[in-house]
Amino acid sequence: PTKVRTICCIGAGYVGGPTCSVIALKCPHIKVIIVDVNPDRINAWNSDDLPVFEPGLDEIVKQCRGKNLFFSTDIDEAIRQSELVFVSVNTPTKTSGMGKGFAADLHYVEASTRRIASVATSSKIIVEKSTVPCRTAASMRTILDANSNSVDEDGSPISFQILSNPEFLAEGTAIRDLLNPDRVLIGSLDTKEGKMAAGALREIYENWVDGSKIYETGLWSSELSKLAANALLAQRISSINSLSAICEATGADVDEVAHACGLDKRIGDRFLKASVGFGGSCFQKDILNLVYLSESLGLKEVADYWQQVITMNEYSKSRFAKKVVQTLFNTITMKKVAVLGFAFKKDTGDTRESAAITLCRYFRQERALISIYDPKVSNNQIYLDMTEPGVIDDGAAVRSQVAICDNAEDACRDAEAVVICTEWDEFRQLDWQRIYGRMKKPAFVFDGRGITDANKLRSLGFRVHTVGKGPQIMDPIWA
Ligand code: NAI
Repeated sequence: PTKVRTICCIGAGYVGGPTCSVIALKCPHIKVIIVDVNPDRINAWNSDDLPVFEPGLDEIVKQCRGKNLFFSTDIDEAIRQSELVFVSVNTPTKTSGMGKGFAADLHYVEASTRRIASVATSSKIIVEKSTVPCRTAASMRTILDANSNSVDEDGSPISFQILSNPEFLAEGTAIRDLLNPDRVLIGSLDTKEGKMAAGALREIYENWVDGSKIYETGLWSSELSKLAANALLAQRISSINSLSAICEATGADVDEVAHACGLDKRIGDRFLKASVGFGGSCFQKDILNLVYLSESLGLKEVADYWQQVITMNEYSKSRFAKKVVQTLFNTITMKKVAVLGFAFKKDTGDTRESAAITLCRYFRQERALISIYDPKVSNNQIYLDMTEPGVIDDGAAVRSQVAICDNAEDACRDAEAVVICTEWDEFRQLDWQRIYGRMKKPAFVFDGRGITDANKLRSLGFRVHTVGKGPQIMDPIWA
């Protein structure tokens, strides 16, 4: 069996960085080299200001970097040195061509595979860490077999084993999830070599994960399980959000409904929090991928079923945005709207598919003046996310309409409404009395994450809307 002494990870992103840092921490006997084509990213990983914010990550990187953990742009050398290569590159939704808007863009995975094939001078285990459509491993194998040197430096034949090892970490809790995963999934071919490769990867994880939590399956089950897990998680959010609309229309309270349902052990209480909608780089992308896969297989009803999870999420965001406009007397033109939180969830600086982006776009179209505060997202990132691609001079227009503030209180000053988009802990402890004193009246709060004490805010004078909480006094018909 392969003894893994050196690991290379292609892709130093939100997954590759934390995942392989934890491997370095838990396997001091293994050298881990994380590589990327983007030199800025690698420089940041080698600096004091890491490109990814995750609680606990800084300490681990600082402890291991330069000892058995390295960040480099020399991809070829890292591949050559390694017995095992993780492919952890991005797999975004395609924006053009066949499957546009649904299928995963696999060209980064393919480029990495071709690179491995062309530079490898010894046998290797290749591990799909990226989330990929079912049967991607078969394409990787074809590329590897057709492009590799057939013999190593000693004249022995080179072979590649491909494993699927999808990552289940959640951003914001990545380190906790990696240190103590619910499960580690390893998919391999059901051959002697495939099983041996899976064994080598298992051995790495067993340095800190109990063997009973490592689940070995076939390649295709493993690839599909990642898409399925994300689809099932997102489906719970869309389900509770659909019910939140009924709650608002009837006077039921979605937190009570979620709690009552979650007490049933078959349902469980996790992932049943109503909100403005889900975001993040994965849920939408992976479900669209599943929809595309279903359609390609001629399974139209299956595709329609999962598509509805996305449709409901879009509806949640637009319903919330409409609520803001309607409540502010049907116009927010030239009104100041404070947006608290821009990341797609707390404890991350990641804004990919963040609900805040969709909401701010709606507000921009209504010509509101938007002031944004987020504790972790950079100003540049916010401006980038707010600029419509392809619209001439939109950058300047964004800057005249969107202000970015250093703290929540500044963002709320002189605003007509506060819109909470991210559940950052610090927003639970705001001095609402002071904020109220400095806002225009009537002062509105739209809590898209259900983190404020609405009754307390109302006692201070605010008019409050929380997702999924019955008809509220601020609604014009009830006022
Ligand atoms: P990312 O965009 O943060 O990182 C990917 C990195 O790969 C980038 O830095 C890019 O420069 C690099 N890259 C692309 N092509 C390359 C090449 N040919 N050679 C070297 N480097 C290359 O993406 P992220 O979020 O880390 O996701 C990676 C994969 O993991 C995706 O398939 C995603 O679906 C999956 N995933 C993501 C999770 C998340 O929470 N972000 C969780 C679980 C899985």
